[in-house]
Amino acid sequence: MCGIVGYVGPVEDGTALEVVMEGLTRLEYRGYDSAGVALVAGDRVETRKRAGKLENLRRELDEHPLPVSRTGIGHTRWATHGGPTDTNAHPHRGGTDGKLALIHNGIIENFHALKSELIADNVAFASETDTEVVAHLLAAAYTTTPDLTEAMRAVVARLDGAFTLLAVHADQPGVVVGARRNSPLVVGLGDGENYLGSDVAAFIGHTRAALELAQDQIVTITPDTVTVVDFDGTPAQGKAYEVTWDAAAAEKGGYATFMEKEINDQPHAVRDTLFGRTDTDGRLTLDELRIPEEKLREIDRITIVACGTAAYAGMVAKYAIERWTRIPVEVSLAHEFRYCDPIVDEQTLVVSISQSGETMDTLMAVKHARELGALTISICNTHGSTIPRESDAVLYTHAGPEIAVASTKAFLAQITASYILGLYLAQLRGGTFADDVRAVLEELAEIPDKIQTVLDRMGRVKEIAGFMADSRAVLFLGRHVGFPVALEGALKLKELAYIHAEGFAAGELKHGPIALIEPGQPVFVVVPSPSSEHGLHGKIVSNIQEIRARGARTIVIAEDGDHDVVPFSDEVIRVPATAPLLAPLLTVVPLQVFALWLSTAKGLDVDQPRNLAKSVTVE
Ligand code: G6P
Repeated sequence: MCGIVGYVGPVEDGTALEVVMEGLTRLEYRGYDSAGVALVAGDRVETRKRAGKLENLRRELDEHPLPVSRTGIGHTRWATHGGPTDTNAHPHRGGTDGKLALIHNGIIENFHALKSELIADNVAFASETDTEVVAHLLAAAYTTTPDLTEAMRAVVARLDGAFTLLAVHADQPGVVVGARRNSPLVVGLGDGENYLGSDVAAFIGHTRAALELAQDQIVTITPDTVTVVDFDGTPAQGKAYEVTWDAAAAEKGGYATFMEKEINDQPHAVRDTLFGRTDTDGRLTLDELRIPEEKLREIDRITIVACGTAAYAGMVAKYAIERWTRIPVEVSLAHEFRYCDPIVDEQTLVVSISQSGETMDTLMAVKHARELGALTISICNTHGSTIPRESDAVLYTHAGPEIAVASTKAFLAQITASYILGLYLAQLRGGTFADDVRAVLEELAEIPDKIQTVLDRMGRVKEIAGFMADSRAVLFLGRHVGFPVALEGALKLKELAYIHAEGFAAGELKHGPIALIEPGQPVFVVVPSPSSEHGLHGKIVSNIQEIRARGARTIVIAEDGDHDVVPFSDEVIRVPATAPLLAPLLTVVPLQVFALWLSTAKGLDVDQPRNLAKSVTVE
């Protein structure tokens, strides 16, 4: 969601605008609907802002250039309070002397009360945003305490909600002050210049040295110093780390869109997530978890909390973890979790799954689980993000930066990481499955090459997507682990092609959805392996016949060598054979590719679909 950049450079250097605009460009992937910048210029702070994409802001900057400056802040806004207009775009000014500007990510929950107070003091508001309230409070605090860090400290004490705030003041021309509670902010360490960003992409073109901030901290950067204090003023230190993503990884790598690149990155995403998890005897070692083994042995229930694609990864993981550990696993949409009086205690393991590590619904679910005494593990793709920090332990996926709003490679990495966790628990707790862990790991190790095989066969899927650009609705069916894959296939199509799409458990068909079938209705069917237990394969072949008999156009995803599906399929898309529980890592790929090319055929924005944000940092 909102992207934030701050920069301070050497006195003789006036590149703040270039650095800030470059940062905003790299943060575009977060999703936004307006953008703006503020630079310290002489005894004033100058701002430029525009609704819409960054090109609108660039045009504004061409028409009304800003003076050269060494200190600046920039923002991409995803509207919450007040529509996406020029006036509501950030930065917002505080006071009337034109000396202070502020940007914000998050929501100030008590802004109505604070605004009424300011209006009673005759403060005039230019926008409808909650942010402007903070800008005015900060300007007022600065008049009594003329130090931006101290003024910020006074203001954050009055705020409820989630926020990252950055501010500049003309009287302190070489300073940017940031504050964070529940929203993301990282520091980039340069040589004679320093950076602030919502994530490392904001400054990755300049430095790989970063500093992670904890909750409720204020950071003050000058060209040569970075000072951190807690909200109560206690000096603190951020945690330094090296960014391993390079700038090129954040680029499109020769593909037309980030999504196409990320789909093609999937063999790497799975391989890298598996990498280094076993010792020389082939046993899983998850040292990074740093949870006493004894505690993990005592777990008697697992709840997975996540949203969107990550929740579907959790649904896939449920089948595998229950099978391997015999521990009951529940999957809860993170935004529902808190409100359904969840049954969680000290013996419950709550596993959150989040690519960004910043999804507010998931963060709040994790906090609630901790309050209830649960042990919390975060499966996350983003170092330095909030959810891992708020959890007892983290298992990182190594998918690399995912820029396209619709999640693809993170999904495969999330399934892989949750499988590793399930196998580790099985190994730890003994039981009948523990001896088989090595065999599953060997099969998992073959998955990256098999994904590559699927990718190499995608020409026909691209053609099918081309024929289907005019479809009004597409249905997806699956059983067992194929059911969440069907849900994910439908979600990808909704997100990318704006086509009505539904995923169903194939067994449910006869209980209602079969009424939707009419001649020509396209239906994707994710077929389990013929080696699946309990006659699952035969049952879905019957389901395909039932819909085919009613005129459905069937596009069937089936294992190599599965000939039973052929007589009932209009199209068969083949994936290599694998263990039934690992099949989602292959069968979802054609569905991602289908959504990508259908969206492209319709001429839509593949990487930034309408109304969506990559990282949803509000509840
Ligand atoms: C947003 C994105 C989805 C993503 C979901 C969860 O809705 O558009 O693609 O699956 O958030 O994101 P997370 O970062 O927590 O995995």
